[in-house]
Amino acid sequence: MKKSVFILLFLLCLFHSSMAQLNVGHLRVENLINPTGIDVLRPTFSWQFSSNESNVVQSAYEIKVASDSKSLSDGKVFWKSGKVNSDQSVYVPFNGQMLVSNQRYYWQVRVWDNKGNVSEWSTVSYWQMGFLNHSDWKAEWIMPGYKEEDAHPSPLMRKEFDSHKKIRYATAYITAHGLYEAQINGKRVGDAYLTPGFTSYNKRLQYQAYDVTDFLKDGANAIGVTLSDGWYRGTCTFNNDKNVFGTDIALLFQLEIIYADGTTATIFSDGTWKSNTGSIRSSSNYDGEFSDARLKKEGWSTAGYNDRDWSSVKTANFSKEVLVATYNEVVRRHEVIKPVKIFKTPRGEQVLDFGQNLVGWVQFKVKGKEGDKITISHAEVLDKSGNFYTENLRRAKAQDIYILSSNSDDTLEPHFSWHGFRYAKVEGYKGELSPDNFAAIVIYSDMDKTGFFNCSNKLLNQLQSNIEWGLRGNFLDIPTDCPQRNERLGWTGDAQVFFRTATFLRGVNNFFTKWLKDLSADQLPDGRVPHVIPQALGAWGKGGSAGWSDAATIIPWGMYQVYGDKRILESQYQSMKLWVDFIKKQCTGDLWNKGNHFGDWLFYSVNDDRDGQSAITDKHLIAQCFYAYSTQLLINAAKELGKKEDVSYYTSLLQKIKDAFINEYTTRNGATMSNTQTSYVLALQFDMFPEPLRQQAADRLVANIKQFKNHLTTGFLGTPYLCHVLSRYGYSDVAYSLLLQESYPSWLYPVTKGATTIWERWDGIRPNGDFQTTSMNSFNHYAYGAIGDWMYRVMVGIDVEEGSIGYKKISIHPHIGGNLTYANASYETPYGKLFSGWKLEDKKLLLNAEIPTNTSAIIYIPIVNNGEVTVNGQPLLSSKSVIVADKTKEYVSVRVGSGKYEFSTPSK
Ligand code: BGC
Repeated sequence: MKKSVFILLFLLCLFHSSMAQLNVGHLRVENLINPTGIDVLRPTFSWQFSSNESNVVQSAYEIKVASDSKSLSDGKVFWKSGKVNSDQSVYVPFNGQMLVSNQRYYWQVRVWDNKGNVSEWSTVSYWQMGFLNHSDWKAEWIMPGYKEEDAHPSPLMRKEFDSHKKIRYATAYITAHGLYEAQINGKRVGDAYLTPGFTSYNKRLQYQAYDVTDFLKDGANAIGVTLSDGWYRGTCTFNNDKNVFGTDIALLFQLEIIYADGTTATIFSDGTWKSNTGSIRSSSNYDGEFSDARLKKEGWSTAGYNDRDWSSVKTANFSKEVLVATYNEVVRRHEVIKPVKIFKTPRGEQVLDFGQNLVGWVQFKVKGKEGDKITISHAEVLDKSGNFYTENLRRAKAQDIYILSSNSDDTLEPHFSWHGFRYAKVEGYKGELSPDNFAAIVIYSDMDKTGFFNCSNKLLNQLQSNIEWGLRGNFLDIPTDCPQRNERLGWTGDAQVFFRTATFLRGVNNFFTKWLKDLSADQLPDGRVPHVIPQALGAWGKGGSAGWSDAATIIPWGMYQVYGDKRILESQYQSMKLWVDFIKKQCTGDLWNKGNHFGDWLFYSVNDDRDGQSAITDKHLIAQCFYAYSTQLLINAAKELGKKEDVSYYTSLLQKIKDAFINEYTTRNGATMSNTQTSYVLALQFDMFPEPLRQQAADRLVANIKQFKNHLTTGFLGTPYLCHVLSRYGYSDVAYSLLLQESYPSWLYPVTKGATTIWERWDGIRPNGDFQTTSMNSFNHYAYGAIGDWMYRVMVGIDVEEGSIGYKKISIHPHIGGNLTYANASYETPYGKLFSGWKLEDKKLLLNAEIPTNTSAIIYIPIVNNGEVTVNGQPLLSSKSVIVADKTKEYVSVRVGSGKYEFSTPSK
């Protein structure tokens, strides 16, 4: 290379490296990476970008969409936005012509920033539309053609077909009454479990779409689908009810092939398919799976299999109007956990300990003889003598049973059942149990992990881990109360209580959007929201309980706060309003004093322990507080949607609700009638008191906590807000003392007892080692894990700035305390990673913050001795990177743009 060229190149590199780098990536359509099969008519695009500069916001974007990658680069686009001057980088709607069913679209984006830089075009992403019209379904519903046995062995359904041309892409659309697992040419289709998921089946039944291009061969091909009862007609409630959604098991299957030459072929379920049963002899959500390997139909899902003795299938006329694409992330396998111990209990049981209470199943790599019967049972805990304890599973047998075949050198796993367990008991295996042959497979809805928390107190880190595992175990397509006993239902109260914490841990946007669609679908015409969604509880479950049905308002509003997508308010507004109007109709005057309410479920009561008094909060007092809260949230939503009449109507209603509360439930000096922690917490959190009475109510709350020697007494409804209220009224020290309390009742008490998930009750295992009542004693119930929200939002201080949405404007407002020396958390906002962490070190308080591009933040820096605050080593006042907003005795607040900051201030 000539010397001059080399110098030129060198100079160019130098020049380039000093230039700003703006990179755009993290492309999402409807929050998903390259989704296949969506039915949103105007899907939205989101992206993130990074820059090596700070204070960077987007000034413009450009999107282009084409039918393949080549056309994108050739400029033969299907739609382009043109350069749009806007800082919007999330939920930008597609705005071209009508999208077409089963078509794939490729897209790219580039952005400009506020400093005059423009990014390269992003790498290409795509999405594929699902079926947009019911008439796209050529497939017929098919059912087994043989007479089913009572135990409901899993039906197998098969079909062969030929394909002879080069394929561009092939997509399988599948759903079922019950659960399904599909294979093409002997290979499992997709990696989703418990499909088609759990929805209000008779109103909304999801199908999944799978890219199966690589599954197909030139020549003969075969499809095989296994079905199981699942939630649809299997045991599905605490009464062990069956056939909750229907009695018939059925499959709907359609394969769309697009050939390279532009022609297409459609293969679908119809009367020409064949049916039989195989090795799965029964399977149930609660009881487990029974399979007999001797009855396996080897090769049944490959071409050329002899199915002459199989029955034909029956076609059925079930609705296709209820079919919808899958909006949320499917359930997938995640962690694979090896046993930490294998031991014999005093009763002589052979038990594996996986060291973590989890949800999924045990995988056993077995060698055995034909006819050997192996039973694997599951338990969350051992009793106080160390024996295997299953009474809290109630009527859920939670057993997987396998009969081995002659050449069994097999990997045993259930296909359609799951269990909540830490321990597994193995019976019937003749050999020595070795950890090499066992693993626990953990399953849950496959949402991105968004939050990471860490602090200097190990017990608190374990508490966070327990909260996180509570989410993993109970976010299986729907938010459930528990994963182990004969229940596992979408309890509305539990979901709303834990919702905000969940948003920190995982990307729950699509998960809850989907569940809210079922909530609206199941809401009664009179506005009542059923106790569980999907509604599986019949007449008893019609709902209307305060704090439970309010999921209808609390979750949509919370979603809007956290994710900033207004469509959630648009789609849920009717449901929110119906719910508030239902309450109004139940009222006497403005008092909601009717109906059945669960109240402050599982609050502290003397029966649990002799020391102290029961903390009973009047159920109608609670109801009145939630009436006000739901009304407030409806007003907020109405404001965002520009519904002026509703704003003024419900605003005057709200005042009446609060007045009625004060008249009925408080003394003139502001004591609540129930005088419990929960009564003050709810009244303060929802601003039931007029301003002058608020601080005294907070003081009374603190006095009550002191009376209980720094213990909480709250149940499901008071707990989530307890520490928030304390911090809001200047009592973060009391919040910390509750959080760090290790004796019952407290968050850390179960941790000291070895809990690895959140318990349903404060004393699931009592201080003396006895268990709480068997009828309701789950060791994996996330409700009390709602403290996680305070740990992120107040302790570390990550929040959406008041008045903003979706972390476009961020607030970092940490609260130092509890003798901790550090606490930090990172959180994946829609714009990218946000970090906040404080540390007490060398007589200094250090506060580190990382603010994503395209956002700004207000940061509150705690000041201890009125000492000087520096940012990135410079005195605050002389720094150009921050603007001082305010200064109080306790904090200096500064406004910053994107970038990394380290604040330092002298501490004690
Ligand atoms: C569930 C709960 C639920 C409650 C309603 C229980 O059986 O497990 O968590 O919220 O019933 O009272």
